[in-house]
Parts: sequence; C-alpha cells; structure tokens
Amino acid sequence: MPVSTSTCRRVRAFRRSYSAVRQRVCDRGRVGVTGGAWRAVLADNALFDLHLPLLSSITPSTPSASVSATELASLLGALAHEFSIEWVDSCDSTNARMVDAPPPADGRVHVLVADRQTAGRGRRGRQWLSWQGASLTFSVLWRFEPGAPAPAGLSLAAGLALARALEQLGVQGVQLKWPNDVLVHGDKLAGILVELLPTRGRPPAAVIGIGLNLRLPADATIPGQTGVTGLAHALEAAPPSPPAVLATILGELHRLFDTYAVAGFPALRGAWEQRNAFAGLPVAIVGEGATQLGTCAGVDDDGALLLRTDSGLQRILAGDVSLRPLAGGPP
Ligand code: BTN
Repeated sequence: MPVSTSTCRRVRAFRRSYSAVRQRVCDRGRVGVTGGAWRAVLADNALFDLHLPLLSSITPSTPSASVSATELASLLGALAHEFSIEWVDSCDSTNARMVDAPPPADGRVHVLVADRQTAGRGRRGRQWLSWQGASLTFSVLWRFEPGAPAPAGLSLAAGLALARALEQLGVQGVQLKWPNDVLVHGDKLAGILVELLPTRGRPPAAVIGIGLNLRLPADATIPGQTGVTGLAHALEAAPPSPPAVLATILGELHRLFDTYAVAGFPALRGAWEQRNAFAGLPVAIVGEGATQLGTCAGVDDDGALLLRTDSGLQRILAGDVSLRPLAGGPP
C-alpha cells in the first residue's frame, strides 16, 4: 500500500519524540517518568497504536528500580556508555517487549531489566517462572553488522558469557547444557532464550533473554523442571546485589560478543566444550515427534550438537528440541 508523505512525516515525528522520551527514561533510570510522560507522546501521535504493546505493558518504574539502574551504571564504569539500560518494576516479558518494539538503533546495546515478569517466556513455548527479588530477568538487544550472516552459535556464545560471569562471581562447577542452559552440579541455575528479530531490510538483530535464579523460595515449584538451583545456594553465601550480578554478566557478554562479531562461534567453541555437561555421555534429543538417542560428541562450528548414534554422527540444530540426560548425569 503506498504511504502518503504526511504519514511519513508523522512516522518521523513519532520516532523523534519516542526516541527523545526513551532517551530521557534511560538517562534517568526511569526515575520520575510516569505513565503521563509516555501518554504525552501518544497523544501527539495517532500512529501510536502501532507501538502500543511496548509502552502499555511496562509499568512505570519504582524508586528501587531506579536505584538499581544507577548502581548498575556506576558498576559498569567505562563500559556504561556502551549500554542503554531500562530497569522496570514489572512487564509481561522483557523478550516480548524487545521483539515487539525494538528500540531505535543508536550504536548502544539496549538492555531491558524487569524486577518481575508476568508472562516470562522460556524455550520451546514454555513459561519462565520467576519470583520478585529472587530472580534476575533481562533481555539484551544485539545488532549485527549489515550483511552479516545468520548468527550461528549465538545462543551458545551467550551461555558461555553467562557461565564465565558466574565463575567470576565465585560459582564453582558451572557447566553448560546444550544449547544454552547453565547448570551447577547438574541443577539449572539459568536459562537463555534467543529470538531473532525479523530483519525487514534492517541489519540482523537478536534478543538475548536471560533468567537467572538468585535465590529460590523454599516453596518454589517449577512444572516440568527437576533440579533447579539459585545463586545463593551455588555460592553458599548471600549473592551480590542484582546490579552487581548484572554488571558482571554485561561485562562478559560485551567481551565475548566482541570476539564473536569478529571470529564467530569457532573462536569460542573450545571454551564452550570445556564446560559441556554431557560430553561423552548418553543423551536423548527430544523433539516434537521423535526422540533420538546417542552420545553427546560436542558441538560444531555452527553450534549444532553432534550426536553419535548407531547410524553415524548426526548434527542437531537447536530449534525445537531439548537435550535430556540418559543414564548418568553431568559429573
Ligand atoms: C529457558 O530455559 O527456557 C529460557 C528461559 C529464558 C527466560 C528469560 S527471563 C528474561 C527473558 N524474558 C523472557 O520472557 N524470557 C527470558
């Protein structure tokens, strides 16, 4: 459908005011930005309904979220200018917000952190449950160079960055379960959901959503998940504050993705393999219909799992499959 000049003007005007408000929000850690400020932008822009999901489902932030954002910026130090961070009290899903309405590209890495998610998304269409104050839930929008190939192994690279950050925080025995679960002594400490944005002529970009259990409530039940753990348990001590944990993770993500952008997953594959929880162990790859049995023979340069089966070596792409241990779990 042809778009009129006046519509284009309105789109540009909307983008300018949207960016300006978003910038103010980020610069102020959302302090004092109320629903009213967002609505003022909307009132001026009849086109807003195109973007409604982003703004309407983010609840105005609390002072404590703004304190966290300020603490994070100071902990990031020199790296702070590389990131644009929104820390909100609550939203449905930080991934959903980023996917539905990615912030305009401004050269920085956009991060959305929520103290609470009301509809957290997990892999394979599952729910991701988290508890306020007990979990760190955030999404990072990563943009690639124009013309860059599909980011093979990206979610494994993200898992590796998270594993390294946890090691830096003092967690021992961190392991990775393909494609990107982070385990400690066989229990799941964190999960990652990577969603690619539709390119629509733009450079490729991915939303990397991370959910990390800080401390699990004693009565926490997670359907379908046996063996979950929290950072407090893994450290056998009170974990650092959420901004301190996040600053360490963002630092590692930044460092690893610098390497990934230049050399891709092959440069990180060895480090991933060192932490492979199921290396050489019997596993089942569970898909929609079929289950494949074999031995985990590591991953290839694209991040595909190599499964040694009776009929030879199979490459398994992450998509809609899960890896399950058979006899014997991770050490
Ligand atoms: C999984 O193990 O199934 C992946 C879980 C990913 C959860 C995180 S929490 C932050 C981000 N927002 C979401 O809705 N999901 C991811």
